[in-house]
Amino acid sequence: MEIPLFYIILVLAPFLACALAGLPGLSTLSPGNSLAVENEDDYLVSPNGTFTGGFYKVGTNAYCFSIWFTNSADKTVVWMANRDRPVNGKQSRLTLHDSGNLVLLDADGSIVWSSNTVSSAAVEVRLLETGNLVLINREKNVVIWESFDFPTDTLLASQRFTRNTTLVSMRSRGTYLLGFYNLKFDDNNVLDLLYNGPLLSSVYWPNSVSTIFYNGRTPYNSSRIAVLNEIGSFKSSDNFRFNASDYGVGPKRRLTLDYDGILRLYSLDESTGSWKLSWRPGGLDSCLVQGLCGVNGICTYNPLPTCTCPTGFKRNNPSDWSKGCSPLFNLTCDPAELDFVELHKTDYYGFDLNTYQAGIALETCREKCLNDCKCKGFGYALDGKGQCFPKGALRNGYRNPSNRMIMHIKVPKGMVKSIEETEAVTTNVLDCSTGQLVLENNSPDDRKTNKNGYMKYLIAFAASVAGIEMICTGLGWWYVFRNHADNEESVDAGYIALALGFKRFTYSELKRATKNFKKEIGKGGFGTVYKGVLDDDRVVAVKRLEGVLQGHAQFWAEVSVIGKINHRNLVKLWGFCAENEHKILVYEYVENGSLDKILFFDSPKVLGWDQRYNIAVGTAKGLAYLHEECLEWVLHCDVKPQNILIDSHFEPKVADFGMSMLFKDGNDRGFSKVRGTRGYLAPEWMMNLKIDAKADVYSYGIVLLELLTGKSASGLESATSLDTECSDLVELTTESIREEELEKIIDPKLKDKYNKEQLKRMVEVALLCVKDDRSTRPAMSKVVELLMEMMSENQMKILKRSTD
Ligand SMILES: *[C@@H]1O[C@H](CO)[C@@H](O)[C@H](O)[C@H]1NC(C)=O
Ligand SMILES: *[C@@H]1O[C@H](CO)[C@@H](O)[C@H](O)[C@H]1NC(C)=O
Repeated sequence: MEIPLFYIILVLAPFLACALAGLPGLSTLSPGNSLAVENEDDYLVSPNGTFTGGFYKVGTNAYCFSIWFTNSADKTVVWMANRDRPVNGKQSRLTLHDSGNLVLLDADGSIVWSSNTVSSAAVEVRLLETGNLVLINREKNVVIWESFDFPTDTLLASQRFTRNTTLVSMRSRGTYLLGFYNLKFDDNNVLDLLYNGPLLSSVYWPNSVSTIFYNGRTPYNSSRIAVLNEIGSFKSSDNFRFNASDYGVGPKRRLTLDYDGILRLYSLDESTGSWKLSWRPGGLDSCLVQGLCGVNGICTYNPLPTCTCPTGFKRNNPSDWSKGCSPLFNLTCDPAELDFVELHKTDYYGFDLNTYQAGIALETCREKCLNDCKCKGFGYALDGKGQCFPKGALRNGYRNPSNRMIMHIKVPKGMVKSIEETEAVTTNVLDCSTGQLVLENNSPDDRKTNKNGYMKYLIAFAASVAGIEMICTGLGWWYVFRNHADNEESVDAGYIALALGFKRFTYSELKRATKNFKKEIGKGGFGTVYKGVLDDDRVVAVKRLEGVLQGHAQFWAEVSVIGKINHRNLVKLWGFCAENEHKILVYEYVENGSLDKILFFDSPKVLGWDQRYNIAVGTAKGLAYLHEECLEWVLHCDVKPQNILIDSHFEPKVADFGMSMLFKDGNDRGFSKVRGTRGYLAPEWMMNLKIDAKADVYSYGIVLLELLTGKSASGLESATSLDTECSDLVELTTESIREEELEKIIDPKLKDKYNKEQLKRMVEVALLCVKDDRSTRPAMSKVVELLMEMMSENQMKILKRSTD
């Protein structure tokens, strides 16, 4: 039997009434009264509770007086009084003065915002059910001031959009600051989306002025008014109109100009508190939004819109792509000093120099750009039309698989080694930035877990490049081998090493030791490692190398140099085998395996603070020895927890050094291909610059941050925490320091047992090591010095004992 709705309402009515009457919060604010930021009950609610008006936390101790949807999961803000000037979390207040002025005061009493109104009559402030905050004259029941006249980035149903209003997007996800995208009526009476950046301003929707009519707009109605009605229909005086996909009475909607420059209509799903996209402009592709990736930046779908910098350019602001990329070079005007980097399937829209030509050869186009100081690069399409687009500025970069344009960016000669290398670097995408750009794909769950959008924004940051084949400029090895390479001497070096106890094993010996390579204990970029026991009972780690192209003599020479390196914090190489196609290295076996297993995976061993500090110091010593004290300086090029082994006394031993040398590609420039690891690569790797010891310092800095936080920088090693994948340890740590919240980032496994001074020092050192500018990173020996200064006597004793 169906129960009539009427009865249900009848039965529930008293409860509903109670619920409404019992709503906490205030319905009005009277003259002489205030809402105080620290008082949790000081907020206004609309009659049915749809909207709430109060202090909204936008950062640590930073609040904005805002209006939000009460029932949206993330308290979606629709209006802010002071979006660009948050107030203090203590003593700030919103006061309605007897004079009729509504004023927002900061802790120090300064006026941050006011309604600028005066009234001698009795007034009060109310939050209406539409989301409109109004100041009304109670006697005449007239609105003196309303928030609907001053929208921020959102238009609500029934809110009039007029010639005087502009929606301004947020700067980036969760920041609430004024951004650069505007929605407004232009001088032609047409509703436009406009990028209004610090350096340029341009309309990106509708497509262009000449196609106003094509877009169905009219410039003739000068009333300049638009409104979204209660049933989801939007109408503008320029003839622009659309209906929500869920058109009809019911859903609460908002039209928001999002931080990515796209205007979207959302409908609230009250059951989950999530937002559903119910309209967006057709043909407005995220990558076509101007300024999205800033000057020189390139937008690409991966599959979501993502920004990258071209080779030789550096991202200007790690948390804000609209700041674009800057070149790491200065261009001269001398054609003899210039060259081009090629970016396939890429174009930069607009900013063509007036030397555009069609039907000319690539070489001619190149010459033209080379000889024009103003030309920053040129586009040339492989479509047989011979179109040459010299560019005065590189803006609105867009990469797309179907694009046949090849962009040629002007760079100093010598920066481009080969087109191949350029491609390898530029096609890699800093995909974490999608966290800031994606909106449509926010599932309700996403949004819920993302309560603190601001923090998420701070964390979401990309500094890593996924598994790229990197070019390791093994300069150190070049110095080592300048003297030996390809001559008799190299073999001599091998013999000397043999005399020092370094042994050449036969293949059958190693086959026996490892029981036919049975027990695999690790796998790296260079081969697989097996555990084995030698005839003299020594336990060894046997590494079968894959892909060594060198001849026997060279291989001998090179391993024997590695064999000579002897330091307690470096894994000792005891010997090698080179027979036929077999190239094998024999190392001392290190008891506790690699640091990543202990640090990131659920391991029965939990590293205590002293052990972590000791690992930090020991690893630094090992690297300092490689860089500065050993025969000649040697780069590691792949410092990461997987390459730091821990012995039975929890003393670290750096493994896998010298690989760059064994995998040298045979030419004498000293280049060698090495697989770098995302998360640990210094910025210079991505810029094709010569790599020096400071690249190892950078990676070491990342390892320090991992020791502190227990989080993996590469995101791949952590089995437990998926959300670290896109987080950036550097950013997180920097932020925590600034906010003096270091304890928040510390590995929870430490259970707050750590030495404060040492922690502080370790963070300081880590942040020095990961400085973008490598000249400001300390040398490894300096790192050792800085860390040793903070060692406790007890730690020193233990260190001494284990050395003896
Ligand atoms: C101009 O637009 C307004 C609002 O859409 C409309 O009411 C008015 O009739 C239009 N005027 C003309 C001349 O079409
Ligand atoms: C480029 O030139 C400026 C000014 O002359 C200088 O400060 C800067 O260091 C130069 N940059 C590079 C990468 O050489």
